[in-house]
Amino acid sequence: MAVTKQKQPETILPHGGKLVNRELIGAQKQSYLNKFNSLQSLQLDAWSLSDLELIAIGGFSPLTGFMGQADYTRVIEETRLEDGTIWSIPITLPVTEDQADSYEVGSTIALIGEDDVFYGVLELDEKYTYNKEKEASLVYGTTDPAHPGVKKLYERGEVYLAGPIYLLNRPSHGNFEDFYFDPSETRKLFADLGWKTVVGFQTRNPVHRAHEYIQKCALESVDGLLLNPLVGETKSDDISAEIRMESYQVILKNYYPVNRTRLVVYPAAMRYAGPKEAILHAIVRKNYGCTHFIVGRDHAGVGDYYGTYEAQELITEFEEELGIQIFKFEHAFYCTTCENMGTEKTCPHGKESHVHLSGTKVREKLRNGEELPKEFSRPEVAAVLIKGMKQN
Ligand code: ADX
Repeated sequence: MAVTKQKQPETILPHGGKLVNRELIGAQKQSYLNKFNSLQSLQLDAWSLSDLELIAIGGFSPLTGFMGQADYTRVIEETRLEDGTIWSIPITLPVTEDQADSYEVGSTIALIGEDDVFYGVLELDEKYTYNKEKEASLVYGTTDPAHPGVKKLYERGEVYLAGPIYLLNRPSHGNFEDFYFDPSETRKLFADLGWKTVVGFQTRNPVHRAHEYIQKCALESVDGLLLNPLVGETKSDDISAEIRMESYQVILKNYYPVNRTRLVVYPAAMRYAGPKEAILHAIVRKNYGCTHFIVGRDHAGVGDYYGTYEAQELITEFEEELGIQIFKFEHAFYCTTCENMGTEKTCPHGKESHVHLSGTKVREKLRNGEELPKEFSRPEVAAVLIKGMKQN
Protein backbone atom coordinates (compact mmCIF):
# COMPACT_ATOMS: atom_id res chain seq x y z
CA MET A 1 0.00 0.00 0.00
CA ALA A 2 1.52 3.33 -1.02
CA VAL A 3 -0.09 6.64 -0.10
CA THR A 4 0.95 9.98 -1.51
CA LYS A 5 1.06 12.51 1.31
CA GLN A 6 -1.49 15.27 0.85
CA LYS A 7 -3.18 17.55 3.33
CA GLN A 8 -6.89 16.79 3.32
CA PRO A 9 -9.56 19.46 3.78
CA GLU A 10 -12.11 18.83 6.57
CA THR A 11 -14.78 17.95 4.02
CA ILE A 12 -13.62 16.85 0.64
CA LEU A 13 -14.85 19.05 -2.21
CA PRO A 14 -16.89 17.37 -4.93
CA HIS A 15 -15.14 16.87 -8.25
CA GLY A 16 -15.15 20.20 -10.09
CA GLY A 17 -16.02 22.01 -6.83
CA LYS A 18 -19.81 21.78 -6.70
CA LEU A 19 -22.18 18.88 -6.05
CA VAL A 20 -24.62 18.72 -8.96
CA ASN A 21 -28.35 18.28 -8.32
CA ARG A 22 -30.49 17.94 -11.44
CA GLU A 23 -33.57 16.45 -9.84
CA LEU A 24 -36.72 18.51 -10.23
CA ILE A 25 -39.44 18.52 -7.61
CA GLY A 26 -42.70 20.42 -7.03
CA ALA A 27 -43.97 22.87 -9.66
CA GLN A 28 -40.92 22.57 -11.91
CA LYS A 29 -41.36 18.81 -12.08
CA GLN A 30 -45.09 19.17 -12.64
CA SER A 31 -44.61 21.54 -15.56
CA TYR A 32 -42.55 18.90 -17.40
CA LEU A 33 -45.02 16.16 -16.48
CA ASN A 34 -47.82 18.30 -17.93
CA LYS A 35 -45.90 18.72 -21.17
CA PHE A 36 -45.35 15.00 -21.65
CA ASN A 37 -47.87 14.50 -24.47
CA SER A 38 -46.34 17.28 -26.54
CA LEU A 39 -42.77 15.94 -26.24
CA GLN A 40 -40.94 13.45 -28.40
CA SER A 41 -39.70 10.60 -26.32
CA LEU A 42 -36.72 8.24 -26.17
CA GLN A 43 -36.60 4.91 -24.39
CA LEU A 44 -33.46 4.43 -22.29
CA ASP A 45 -31.89 1.07 -21.60
CA ALA A 46 -30.85 0.21 -18.03
CA TRP A 47 -27.30 1.50 -18.63
CA SER A 48 -28.39 4.96 -19.85
CA LEU A 49 -31.04 5.21 -17.14
CA SER A 50 -28.39 4.65 -14.47
CA ASP A 51 -26.21 7.30 -16.12
CA LEU A 52 -29.16 9.73 -16.04
CA GLU A 53 -29.67 9.00 -12.37
CA LEU A 54 -25.99 9.38 -11.45
CA ILE A 55 -25.74 12.70 -13.27
CA ALA A 56 -28.88 13.96 -11.53
CA ILE A 57 -27.94 12.94 -7.98
CA GLY A 58 -24.42 14.35 -8.30
CA GLY A 59 -22.49 11.08 -8.43
CA PHE A 60 -21.07 12.22 -11.75
CA SER A 61 -20.44 15.85 -10.67
CA PRO A 62 -19.51 18.13 -12.41
CA LEU A 63 -21.50 16.65 -15.32
CA THR A 64 -24.96 18.17 -15.74
CA GLY A 65 -25.99 16.16 -18.79
CA PHE A 66 -24.86 13.73 -21.47
CA MET A 67 -21.54 14.81 -22.96
CA GLY A 68 -21.27 16.98 -26.05
CA GLN A 69 -18.61 16.43 -28.68
CA ALA A 70 -15.96 18.76 -27.23
CA ASP A 71 -16.06 17.05 -23.81
CA TYR A 72 -16.32 13.61 -25.42
CA THR A 73 -13.28 14.09 -27.65
CA ARG A 74 -11.07 15.45 -24.91
CA VAL A 75 -12.21 12.73 -22.47
CA ILE A 76 -11.27 9.86 -24.77
CA GLU A 77 -8.07 11.49 -26.04
CA GLU A 78 -6.74 13.24 -22.92
CA THR A 79 -8.79 11.96 -19.94
CA ARG A 80 -10.13 15.46 -19.35
CA LEU A 81 -13.33 17.43 -19.94
CA GLU A 82 -13.09 20.37 -22.31
CA ASP A 83 -12.41 22.71 -19.36
CA GLY A 84 -9.48 20.57 -18.20
CA THR A 85 -11.19 18.75 -15.30
CA ILE A 86 -10.05 15.11 -15.10
CA TRP A 87 -12.65 12.70 -16.51
CA SER A 88 -11.89 9.25 -17.88
CA ILE A 89 -15.02 7.57 -19.32
CA PRO A 90 -17.48 9.16 -21.77
CA ILE A 91 -20.98 9.54 -20.35
CA THR A 92 -22.99 9.59 -23.55
CA LEU A 93 -26.47 8.85 -24.85
CA PRO A 94 -26.42 6.68 -28.00
CA VAL A 95 -29.29 6.39 -30.48
CA THR A 96 -29.62 4.98 -34.00
CA GLU A 97 -29.20 7.28 -37.03
CA ASP A 98 -32.93 7.09 -37.73
CA GLN A 99 -33.78 8.05 -34.18
CA ALA A 100 -31.26 10.91 -34.28
CA ASP A 101 -32.82 12.26 -37.51
CA SER A 102 -36.20 12.43 -35.82
CA TYR A 103 -35.05 14.78 -33.03
CA GLU A 104 -34.38 18.45 -33.58
CA VAL A 105 -31.58 20.27 -31.80
CA GLY A 106 -33.15 22.74 -29.37
CA SER A 107 -36.03 20.43 -28.50
CA THR A 108 -36.82 18.76 -25.18
CA ILE A 109 -36.90 14.95 -25.24
CA ALA A 110 -38.82 12.91 -22.69
CA LEU A 111 -36.62 10.08 -21.37
CA ILE A 112 -38.64 6.94 -20.71
CA GLY A 113 -37.55 3.70 -19.05
CA GLU A 114 -38.10 0.19 -20.35
CA ASP A 115 -40.96 0.14 -17.83
CA ASP A 116 -42.55 3.18 -19.60
CA VAL A 117 -41.96 5.46 -16.60
CA PHE A 118 -41.20 9.09 -17.52
CA TYR A 119 -37.86 9.45 -15.72
CA GLY A 120 -36.47 12.68 -17.05
CA VAL A 121 -35.81 15.08 -19.89
CA LEU A 122 -32.92 15.94 -22.16
CA GLU A 123 -32.57 19.46 -23.54
CA LEU A 124 -31.06 18.46 -26.88
CA ASP A 125 -28.07 20.72 -27.58
CA GLU A 126 -26.18 18.58 -30.00
CA LYS A 127 -26.09 15.29 -31.91
CA TYR A 128 -22.86 13.86 -33.27
CA THR A 129 -21.46 10.69 -34.79
CA TYR A 130 -18.44 8.98 -33.29
CA ASN A 131 -15.90 6.33 -34.13
CA LYS A 132 -16.57 3.17 -32.13
CA GLU A 133 -13.16 1.59 -32.75
CA LYS A 134 -11.45 4.77 -31.64
CA GLU A 135 -13.52 4.96 -28.46
CA ALA A 136 -12.93 1.25 -27.79
CA SER A 137 -9.21 1.52 -28.21
CA LEU A 138 -8.78 4.76 -26.21
CA VAL A 139 -11.17 3.94 -23.36
CA TYR A 140 -10.99 0.14 -23.12
CA GLY A 141 -7.49 -0.32 -24.53
CA THR A 142 -8.80 -2.91 -27.01
CA THR A 143 -11.07 -3.18 -30.04
CA ASP A 144 -11.83 -6.83 -29.31
CA PRO A 145 -15.63 -7.36 -29.47
CA ALA A 146 -15.27 -10.13 -26.87
CA HIS A 147 -14.49 -7.49 -24.22
CA PRO A 148 -17.84 -6.92 -22.42
CA GLY A 149 -17.56 -3.10 -22.44
CA VAL A 150 -16.50 -3.01 -26.09
CA LYS A 151 -19.27 -5.46 -27.02
CA LYS A 152 -21.79 -3.13 -25.43
CA LEU A 153 -20.30 -0.14 -27.25
CA TYR A 154 -20.49 -1.93 -30.62
CA GLU A 155 -24.13 -2.83 -30.01
CA ARG A 156 -25.19 0.75 -29.25
CA GLY A 157 -26.48 3.36 -31.73
CA GLU A 158 -24.24 5.36 -34.07
CA VAL A 159 -25.13 8.86 -32.87
CA TYR A 160 -24.73 10.49 -29.48
CA LEU A 161 -27.38 12.91 -28.22
CA ALA A 162 -26.07 15.54 -25.85
CA GLY A 163 -27.28 18.26 -23.54
CA PRO A 164 -28.35 18.99 -19.98
CA ILE A 165 -30.79 16.64 -18.27
CA TYR A 166 -33.33 16.80 -15.47
CA LEU A 167 -34.52 13.86 -13.43
CA LEU A 168 -38.26 13.80 -12.69
CA ASN A 169 -38.72 10.35 -11.19
CA ARG A 170 -36.23 8.13 -9.42
CA PRO A 171 -35.66 4.60 -10.71
CA SER A 172 -36.75 2.00 -8.15
CA HIS A 173 -34.01 0.18 -6.25
CA GLY A 174 -36.15 -2.71 -5.13
CA ASN A 175 -34.69 -4.41 -2.08
CA PHE A 176 -31.79 -1.98 -1.94
CA GLU A 177 -33.71 1.19 -0.95
CA ASP A 178 -32.34 1.04 2.61
CA PHE A 179 -28.82 1.14 1.20
CA TYR A 180 -29.47 3.88 -1.36
CA PHE A 181 -28.03 7.28 -0.48
CA ASP A 182 -27.38 10.34 -2.62
CA PRO A 183 -23.88 11.84 -2.46
CA SER A 184 -25.30 14.73 -0.41
CA GLU A 185 -26.73 12.18 2.04
CA THR A 186 -23.51 10.16 2.43
CA ARG A 187 -21.66 13.42 3.06
CA LYS A 188 -24.11 14.22 5.84
CA LEU A 189 -23.91 10.66 7.16
CA PHE A 190 -20.11 10.85 7.43
CA ALA A 191 -20.34 14.20 9.20
CA ASP A 192 -22.96 12.85 11.64
CA LEU A 193 -20.76 9.83 12.36
CA GLY A 194 -17.83 12.17 12.99
CA TRP A 195 -15.80 10.58 10.20
CA LYS A 196 -13.26 13.04 8.85
CA THR A 197 -11.52 10.47 6.68
CA VAL A 198 -13.43 7.81 4.77
CA VAL A 199 -12.15 5.13 2.44
CA GLY A 200 -14.41 4.09 -0.45
CA PHE A 201 -14.41 0.54 -1.74
CA GLN A 202 -15.72 -0.33 -5.19
CA THR A 203 -16.71 -3.93 -5.85
CA ARG A 204 -18.71 -6.05 -8.25
CA ASN A 205 -17.91 -9.24 -6.36
CA PRO A 206 -18.72 -10.74 -2.98
CA VAL A 207 -16.30 -9.61 -0.27
CA HIS A 208 -13.77 -12.43 -0.02
CA ARG A 209 -10.90 -12.54 2.47
CA ALA A 210 -8.56 -10.59 0.14
CA HIS A 211 -11.08 -7.75 -0.19
CA GLU A 212 -11.65 -7.78 3.57
CA TYR A 213 -7.92 -7.66 4.21
CA ILE A 214 -7.26 -4.61 2.03
CA GLN A 215 -10.35 -2.82 3.37
CA LYS A 216 -9.24 -3.40 6.95
CA CYS A 217 -5.63 -2.40 6.23
CA ALA A 218 -7.03 0.88 4.88
CA LEU A 219 -9.45 1.21 7.79
CA GLU A 220 -6.48 1.11 10.18
CA SER A 221 -5.57 4.61 8.94
CA VAL A 222 -8.95 6.28 8.37
CA ASP A 223 -12.14 6.87 10.38
CA GLY A 224 -14.61 4.91 8.27
CA LEU A 225 -15.16 2.49 5.42
CA LEU A 226 -17.81 3.00 2.75
CA LEU A 227 -18.49 -0.39 1.21
CA ASN A 228 -19.92 0.82 -2.09
CA PRO A 229 -20.78 -2.12 -4.36
CA LEU A 230 -21.80 -1.47 -7.93
CA VAL A 231 -25.36 -2.75 -8.40
CA GLY A 232 -26.15 -1.57 -11.95
CA GLU A 233 -25.72 -3.65 -15.08
CA THR A 234 -22.92 -6.24 -14.98
CA LYS A 235 -22.02 -9.08 -17.34
CA SER A 236 -24.29 -12.08 -17.03
CA ASP A 237 -21.78 -14.40 -15.36
CA ASP A 238 -20.99 -11.96 -12.52
CA ILE A 239 -22.74 -12.81 -9.24
CA SER A 240 -26.04 -10.92 -9.09
CA ALA A 241 -26.36 -7.77 -7.00
CA GLU A 242 -29.17 -9.36 -4.94
CA ILE A 243 -26.98 -12.25 -3.81
CA ARG A 244 -23.99 -9.98 -3.27
CA MET A 245 -25.98 -7.55 -1.14
CA GLU A 246 -27.04 -10.38 1.13
CA SER A 247 -23.42 -11.53 1.41
CA TYR A 248 -22.22 -7.99 2.27
CA GLN A 249 -24.73 -7.71 5.10
CA VAL A 250 -23.64 -11.06 6.48
CA ILE A 251 -19.93 -10.26 6.44
CA LEU A 252 -20.42 -6.76 7.90
CA LYS A 253 -22.55 -8.15 10.72
CA ASN A 254 -20.04 -10.84 11.64
CA TYR A 255 -16.63 -9.33 10.96
CA TYR A 256 -16.72 -5.50 10.83
CA PRO A 257 -17.04 -2.84 13.53
CA VAL A 258 -20.55 -1.47 13.09
CA ASN A 259 -19.66 2.12 13.95
CA ARG A 260 -16.86 2.25 11.40
CA THR A 261 -18.51 0.79 8.28
CA ARG A 262 -21.46 1.65 6.08
CA LEU A 263 -22.96 -0.21 3.12
CA VAL A 264 -24.29 2.02 0.34
CA VAL A 265 -25.07 0.95 -3.24
CA TYR A 266 -23.45 2.50 -6.30
CA PRO A 267 -26.22 2.29 -8.92
CA ALA A 268 -23.97 2.41 -12.00
CA ALA A 269 -23.36 0.08 -14.92
CA MET A 270 -20.01 -1.74 -14.98
CA ARG A 271 -17.82 -0.85 -17.94
CA TYR A 272 -14.91 -3.25 -17.28
CA ALA A 273 -12.61 -0.49 -18.55
CA GLY A 274 -9.83 -1.27 -16.05
CA PRO A 275 -7.49 1.74 -15.61
CA LYS A 276 -9.88 4.34 -17.07
CA GLU A 277 -12.75 3.04 -14.96
CA ALA A 278 -10.61 3.14 -11.81
CA ILE A 279 -10.36 6.91 -12.31
CA LEU A 280 -14.13 7.22 -12.77
CA HIS A 281 -14.68 5.08 -9.68
CA ALA A 282 -12.41 7.34 -7.63
CA ILE A 283 -14.12 10.51 -8.89
CA VAL A 284 -17.57 9.16 -7.99
CA ARG A 285 -16.45 8.17 -4.48
CA LYS A 286 -14.97 11.65 -4.01
CA ASN A 287 -18.42 13.00 -4.88
CA TYR A 288 -19.96 10.67 -2.27
CA GLY A 289 -17.60 12.30 0.25
CA CYS A 290 -14.81 9.74 0.51
CA THR A 291 -11.35 11.14 1.18
CA HIS A 292 -9.61 7.90 0.18
CA PHE A 293 -10.23 5.17 -2.40
CA ILE A 294 -8.85 1.64 -2.78
CA VAL A 295 -7.34 0.43 -6.03
CA GLY A 296 -6.07 -3.13 -5.74
CA ARG A 297 -5.00 -5.60 -8.35
CA ASP A 298 -6.62 -5.47 -11.80
CA HIS A 299 -9.22 -2.92 -10.68
CA ALA A 300 -12.35 -3.05 -12.89
CA GLY A 301 -10.53 -5.49 -15.13
CA VAL A 302 -11.81 -8.48 -17.04
CA GLY A 303 -9.95 -11.41 -18.63
CA ASP A 304 -6.37 -10.54 -19.54
CA TYR A 305 -7.03 -7.16 -21.09
CA TYR A 306 -5.14 -5.14 -18.45
CA GLY A 307 -1.91 -5.59 -16.55
CA THR A 308 -2.29 -6.42 -12.85
CA TYR A 309 -1.21 -2.93 -11.72
CA GLU A 310 -2.10 -0.90 -14.83
CA ALA A 311 -5.01 0.82 -13.06
CA GLN A 312 -2.72 1.85 -10.20
CA GLU A 313 -0.13 3.18 -12.64
CA LEU A 314 -2.64 5.29 -14.56
CA ILE A 315 -4.39 6.71 -11.51
CA THR A 316 -1.03 7.65 -10.00
CA GLU A 317 -0.47 10.04 -12.93
CA PHE A 318 -3.65 11.91 -11.98
CA GLU A 319 -3.71 11.37 -8.23
CA GLU A 320 -2.51 14.71 -6.98
CA GLU A 321 -4.94 16.62 -9.16
CA LEU A 322 -7.81 14.20 -8.46
CA GLY A 323 -7.85 15.33 -4.85
CA ILE A 324 -8.77 11.92 -3.38
CA GLN A 325 -6.00 9.81 -1.89
CA ILE A 326 -5.52 6.39 -3.39
CA PHE A 327 -4.68 3.36 -1.26
CA LYS A 328 -2.91 0.97 -3.62
CA PHE A 329 -2.67 -2.69 -2.73
CA GLU A 330 -0.72 -5.51 -4.25
CA HIS A 331 -2.34 -8.87 -4.88
CA ALA A 332 -3.52 -10.14 -1.46
CA PHE A 333 -3.83 -13.80 -0.45
CA TYR A 334 -3.96 -16.08 2.57
CA CYS A 335 -0.59 -17.65 3.37
CA THR A 336 -0.80 -21.10 4.98
CA THR A 337 2.74 -20.75 6.39
CA CYS A 338 2.21 -17.27 7.90
CA GLU A 339 -1.34 -18.34 8.81
CA ASN A 340 -2.64 -14.93 7.92
CA MET A 341 -3.42 -12.65 5.01
CA GLY A 342 -0.69 -10.74 3.24
CA THR A 343 0.85 -9.64 -0.02
CA GLU A 344 4.32 -10.06 -1.45
CA LYS A 345 5.21 -6.94 0.53
CA THR A 346 4.57 -8.73 3.82
CA CYS A 347 4.88 -12.46 3.14
CA PRO A 348 8.19 -14.15 2.29
CA HIS A 349 6.73 -17.53 1.26
CA GLY A 350 6.27 -18.97 -2.20
CA LYS A 351 3.11 -19.51 -4.22
CA GLU A 352 2.73 -23.06 -2.84
CA SER A 353 1.77 -21.47 0.51
CA HIS A 354 -0.74 -19.04 -0.98
CA VAL A 355 -4.45 -19.75 -1.29
CA HIS A 356 -5.83 -18.22 -4.45
CA LEU A 357 -8.92 -19.02 -6.54
CA SER A 358 -9.81 -17.39 -9.85
CA GLY A 359 -13.27 -15.90 -10.31
CA THR A 360 -14.09 -18.71 -12.75
CA LYS A 361 -13.03 -21.36 -10.24
CA VAL A 362 -15.10 -19.70 -7.50
CA ARG A 363 -18.21 -19.66 -9.68
CA GLU A 364 -17.64 -23.28 -10.68
CA LYS A 365 -17.37 -24.39 -7.05
CA LEU A 366 -20.43 -22.41 -6.05
CA ARG A 367 -22.49 -23.82 -8.89
CA ASN A 368 -21.54 -27.32 -7.73
CA GLY A 369 -22.58 -26.40 -4.20
CA GLU A 370 -19.00 -26.86 -2.97
CA GLU A 371 -17.70 -24.98 0.08
CA LEU A 372 -15.04 -22.36 -0.58
CA PRO A 373 -11.85 -22.72 1.49
CA LYS A 374 -12.25 -20.71 4.69
CA GLU A 375 -8.91 -19.07 3.92
CA PHE A 376 -10.50 -17.69 0.77
CA SER A 377 -14.01 -16.80 1.90
CA ARG A 378 -15.78 -16.42 5.23
CA PRO A 379 -18.06 -19.46 5.71
CA GLU A 380 -21.10 -17.22 6.26
CA VAL A 381 -20.42 -15.53 2.91
CA ALA A 382 -19.86 -18.83 1.10
CA ALA A 383 -23.17 -20.13 2.53
CA VAL A 384 -25.08 -17.13 1.13
CA LEU A 385 -23.43 -17.56 -2.26
CA ILE A 386 -24.15 -21.28 -2.46
CA LYS A 387 -27.77 -20.71 -1.45
CA GLY A 388 -28.06 -17.90 -4.02
CA MET A 389 -26.61 -20.03 -6.81
CA LYS A 390 -29.03 -22.85 -6.02
CA GLN A 391 -32.03 -20.49 -6.22
CA ASN A 392 -30.93 -19.02 -9.58
S1 ADX B 1 -13.87 -4.58 -9.56
O1 ADX B 1 -14.13 -4.86 -10.96
O2 ADX B 1 -14.97 -3.96 -8.88
O3 ADX B 1 -12.59 -3.86 -9.38
P1 ADX B 1 -13.55 -6.62 -7.50
O4 ADX B 1 -14.85 -6.51 -6.86
O5 ADX B 1 -12.98 -7.99 -7.57
O6 ADX B 1 -13.63 -6.08 -8.98
O7 ADX B 1 -12.46 -5.74 -6.78
C1 ADX B 1 -12.75 -4.71 -5.89
C2 ADX B 1 -11.45 -4.04 -5.47
O8 ADX B 1 -10.60 -4.99 -4.78
C3 ADX B 1 -10.59 -3.51 -6.62
O9 ADX B 1 -9.90 -2.36 -6.20
C4 ADX B 1 -9.61 -4.63 -6.87
O10 ADX B 1 -8.44 -4.14 -7.45
C5 ADX B 1 -9.36 -5.14 -5.45
N1 ADX B 1 -8.97 -6.57 -5.36
C6 ADX B 1 -9.74 -7.64 -5.68
N2 ADX B 1 -9.10 -8.80 -5.38
C7 ADX B 1 -7.89 -8.44 -4.86
C8 ADX B 1 -6.76 -9.18 -4.34
N3 ADX B 1 -6.73 -10.51 -4.29
N4 ADX B 1 -5.70 -8.45 -3.92
C9 ADX B 1 -5.69 -7.10 -3.95
N5 ADX B 1 -6.72 -6.37 -4.42
C10 ADX B 1 -7.81 -7.02 -4.86
